[in-house]
Amino acid sequence: MATALSCKALAVAALLSVVSVVTYGARAQQQPSHNASDSESSQDRSLLSYSSGWLPAKATWYGAPTGAGPDDNGGACGFKGTNQYPFSSMTSCGNEPIFKDGKGCGSCYQIRCLRSNHPACSGVPQTVIITDMNYYPVAKYHFDLSGTAFGAMASSGLNDRLRHAGIIDMQFRRVPCDFPGLTVTFRVQHGSNPMYLAVLIEHANMDGDVVQADIMQNNSGYWEPLHESWGAVWRIDPSRPLCGPFSVRITNESGKQLVAQNVIPANYIADVDYRSFVQYTN
Ligand SMILES: *[C@@H]1O[C@H](CO)[C@@H](O)[C@H](O)[C@H]1NC(C)=O
Ligand SMILES: *[C@@H]1O[C@H](CO)[C@@H](O)[C@H](O)[C@H]1NC(C)=O
Ligand SMILES: *[C@@H]1O[C@H](CO)[C@@H](O)[C@H](O)[C@H]1NC(C)=O
Repeated sequence: MATALSCKALAVAALLSVVSVVTYGARAQQQPSHNASDSESSQDRSLLSYSSGWLPAKATWYGAPTGAGPDDNGGACGFKGTNQYPFSSMTSCGNEPIFKDGKGCGSCYQIRCLRSNHPACSGVPQTVIITDMNYYPVAKYHFDLSGTAFGAMASSGLNDRLRHAGIIDMQFRRVPCDFPGLTVTFRVQHGSNPMYLAVLIEHANMDGDVVQADIMQNNSGYWEPLHESWGAVWRIDPSRPLCGPFSVRITNESGKQLVAQNVIPANYIADVDYRSFVQYTN
């Protein structure tokens, strides 16, 4: 890939690749996009804070009975390998106030159901990560869980019995994410090139989601904003070729910024996880 060349050489290459840039931009635009201002009422924001207590919701499940949701272990957030740590198949689609047009990607919730909801329920809280979306109108709050996560709300040995219910009333509350052993990770998306860089941000502790991301090219000292593309993917479409290596600065909901210094090399490879040395902590 041409990203290893100097920026000057890239300017020529970039002019020649404008056509493919437009194609990639168009594809990214086609990802599910919803009106964020509709789904982020102040009521939802306060209800879904860590101190909300248990709130009522409906739960359904999708995919294989003991799977991680979609057949490809992915979802509308762009995460891959949701059958592996830290997702470990404990994943869920959120409806509007939970998926939040992609802002909810990577956030963590405890879920539980009680015997009064279904005789197979254990009442023991389980933690799920939002990896996908389902805006089909079911209830004010709806978790469309992986088969694994739905079954995990059951008493021991009753997982299948609970899954047979298909849809149940349950309770949920927002919790800080905790991914022991992991730092914030960046994965360059397929189709990135000198005129278009798209990066999936994952494994942020606490909030689990990121409210702002900025990029610095080649230690220039100058931060440029990335824009939310879809799911947990952030992008930049500059008018000049990008020069790596790239540092990424992320901001959480409390405004705390972390800098992953030169985390993406100039000659990056798409679909490789670039681990930073930074992580949000309590
Ligand atoms: C990055 O910056 C250094 C020093 O400012 C410069 O020598 C180098 O050519 C730059 N790299 C690219 C790819 O432009
Ligand atoms: C989003 O919804 C608001 C209020 O309903 C409306 O004013 C705005 O134009 C909508 N934005 C888009 C991009 O549809
Ligand atoms: C943001 O990060 C700081 C420092 O790691 C942490 O104390 C704070 O709780 C985080 N905020 C949220 C909303 O996760």
